[in-house]
Amino acid sequence: MVGEGIIILRISLKHLMSLRVLLVGSGGREHALAWKLSQSPLLEKMWAAPGNPGTAQFAENVQLAADDLDGIVHFAQSNDISLVVIGPEDPLALGLADRLAEVGIHSFGPNAEAAEIESSKAFCKEVLVRHRIPTASYRVFKDLNPAVSYLESGAQFPLVVKASGLAAGKGVYICNDASEARDAVKLLLEEKKHGKAGSVLLMEEYLEGPEASVFALTDGRTIIPLESCQDHKQLLDGGKGPNTGGMGAISPNPLLSERARELVERQILLPTVHGMNHEGRRFRGILFAGLKLTPAGPKVLEYNARFGDPECQILMMRLQSDLLPLLLGCANGELEEQEAPTWDPRPAVTVVLASGGYPESYPKGLAISGLENLELGPELQVFHAGTALSEGGELQTAGGRVLAVTALGDTLSEARSVAYAAAEQIHFEGKTLRTDIGAAGVVALESVQ
Ligand code: AMP
Ligand code: GLY
Repeated sequence: MVGEGIIILRISLKHLMSLRVLLVGSGGREHALAWKLSQSPLLEKMWAAPGNPGTAQFAENVQLAADDLDGIVHFAQSNDISLVVIGPEDPLALGLADRLAEVGIHSFGPNAEAAEIESSKAFCKEVLVRHRIPTASYRVFKDLNPAVSYLESGAQFPLVVKASGLAAGKGVYICNDASEARDAVKLLLEEKKHGKAGSVLLMEEYLEGPEASVFALTDGRTIIPLESCQDHKQLLDGGKGPNTGGMGAISPNPLLSERARELVERQILLPTVHGMNHEGRRFRGILFAGLKLTPAGPKVLEYNARFGDPECQILMMRLQSDLLPLLLGCANGELEEQEAPTWDPRPAVTVVLASGGYPESYPKGLAISGLENLELGPELQVFHAGTALSEGGELQTAGGRVLAVTALGDTLSEARSVAYAAAEQIHFEGKTLRTDIGAAGVVALESVQ
């Protein structure tokens, strides 16, 4: 309905029974979303732009890049799409949700102004500080000289140097002394390693403690916290090596106590949603808080404006409720009408199989074998991320993170065993994985028993 420039984004009940969904993105997260959405009785048809061989099992893949805003808007209009589910951060930051709203199409994911909570770490910090949300102390620099002179005078170590913009989880440098920090600053400001994303940088107090990923669906009024997760960001066992997008994850996070969860909801999620409203940037979609569980309580490391990858894979394995009405509720501002989701109480583990060389450069087009021998079902899924089909229809590597082997188990140890047994059966040259996903979680659980 359109009147005097106002578009009312409302979907009729008739539509609700047969939703046409366009899923944007091509990672393991999007395969997991497609898998879960395909189980919804409300779904009429799903497309994925551009998708991957995994999403193709449930959706029709369309050859449109996730950042091709014109193409996606045009496709959504021409195909009478009821809801566009925006998976990755780039199209959110570019304003895909804004463009779709202009033509009266609902999207799951915030508009560009609200997505700045992820796409500008400098803005995110301002919001956190303005609304007294616990976080590390920080400074912002745009020029080399003041940054270097700060390192030589006031700085304390370890210190974290970060690109303010989007850098796929790779723009963070943990520096033990001034010389390491100077190198990181030069890499960002002089060598422009992360391009424009690193033209503004943050120097942050180093926070001690284990990490937790916390997710909440919101339409800006109602907040539905999801189950907790723990990511494993570094490339190598024991948390060593460079940061990646995430090498594996577990849910629930055994280190996040009930009390800590309450604190997170009260001191972090609620004031963030209120704060964003106050800033005139109502957030609709999924708020993803990367936290450190410090001795002084949970503190925010960063916010993301989308599902985590690979956290989404384990959340989708554990979610028992229909995902589609929850996503639609965020989009149309009617989340209040949804019931709180129910979860499989069993723990889930996902182990990422990456290409040799990731997170730096890596080869593509290597044959993947062994998937056909696995018995997939509600307790074991292998989500595709960087895969492609060759002209002859054979599965090949096509990205840094290739597959996410995801399992449920009666215990965390059992979920690990199932995931690792499956991971062992999959082969490609250079296959790289961590062998300790969830291992610290098992130890933590044993210590409280
Ligand atoms: P971010 O992209 O800001 O979440 O940072 C990526 C990873 O770097 C985090 O998951 C942490 O492991 C680490 N990190 C970032 N900031 C800090 C900090 N202030 N203190 C300690 N570790 C950090
Ligand atoms: N796994 C962390 C992220 O998606 O940013």
